[in-house]
Amino acid sequence: MMAEINRNATQINATIVGNKRVGQYHQLIINIGEISNVCKPGNFVAINVGGETSKMILRRAFAISRVSNNSTFGGTMELIVAPFGQGSRWLCSQSEGAVLDIVVPLGNAFGIPTTPVAVLLVGGGYGSAPLFGLAEVLNARGCRVDMLLGASTAGKIYAPMEGKRSVNSLRIFTEDGSMGQLGRVTDPIATLIEDLNIAVIYSCGPMAMLAAISEITQGTDVVHQCAVEESMACGIGICMTCVLPVADELGAVSMLRSCIEGPVMDGANVLWKRVGKVI
Ligand SMILES: Cc1cc2nc3c(=O)[nH]c(=O)nc-3n(C[C@H](O)[C@H](O)[C@H](O)COP(=O)(O)OP(=O)(O)OC[C@H]3O[C@@H](n4cnc5c(N)ncnc54)[C@H](O)[C@@H]3O)c2cc1C
Ligand code: FES
Repeated sequence: MMAEINRNATQINATIVGNKRVGQYHQLIINIGEISNVCKPGNFVAINVGGETSKMILRRAFAISRVSNNSTFGGTMELIVAPFGQGSRWLCSQSEGAVLDIVVPLGNAFGIPTTPVAVLLVGGGYGSAPLFGLAEVLNARGCRVDMLLGASTAGKIYAPMEGKRSVNSLRIFTEDGSMGQLGRVTDPIATLIEDLNIAVIYSCGPMAMLAAISEITQGTDVVHQCAVEESMACGIGICMTCVLPVADELGAVSMLRSCIEGPVMDGANVLWKRVGKVI
């Protein structure tokens, strides 16, 4: 059966209650009221950008970093936004009090183990954003949670102080050595799988990083749940721009929409070498 849009998806007008620069990113806190209760780690949102007269017709997708129930504002969600192109720069320039047109929540969620196993969270760049909310849920489930964050340089590492509370250990890797250890976030994974008896790896970041992790877990018992960030035009399952080649248990390959059947996918089933190619 074909998957459908997240059944809780709602289009709302939501007010920004916080906008703070963190390194090269902006941390936006947005009041979404009771919808915060149905947002799960892995879900994303699609935001209208540019204001009423905007020619930017496509909504922009952003992972929900965390949701919380704030005594002043009620239900809020946090987004970590990189000022990249016109739309995300517009979003980062919005002040407290600005009202956004948002569809929330979209996509599927990370699967949470039913028993308390050891898990490894791996984030690249702003891909670490949804992992902190996930860490809180896994921690509450009794899992041992270790985290690796990587980026090209220090300003692209997003690692809030409060996020560290839910993790057993946090190691940072930068490719220029400006923060943490010099190297790639994928470097220690094979050793950690052995040393910590890792059952599940949760990852979010650039596609090349997700593909590299899948290569490491191939042939092992480790489950790799990755949140893919394929370009999305509509975000609601109509345009097919976000499709990825994914094999089922019999090896049959389908082009699955990462906005509907994702963004969380089983890394073992994605045909990484064929992503972006006609198959
Ligand atoms: C699931 C998901 C989660 C994300 N989470 C975050 C996050 O937490 N933080 C963050 O900073 N960024 C995140 N991104 C990336 C973010 O959506 C882009 O940075 C943003 O869309 C760029 O918009 P722009 O206007 O700044 O850039 P522009 O380049 O001006 O516009 C990009 C627009 O064109 C569309 N587009 C580009 N290429 C294609 C293509 N090949 N096919 C179809 N449409 C295309 C994009 O989807 C977007 O709507 C996420 C993306 C996805 C898909
Ligand atoms: S973005 Fe249009 S179908 Fe996924």
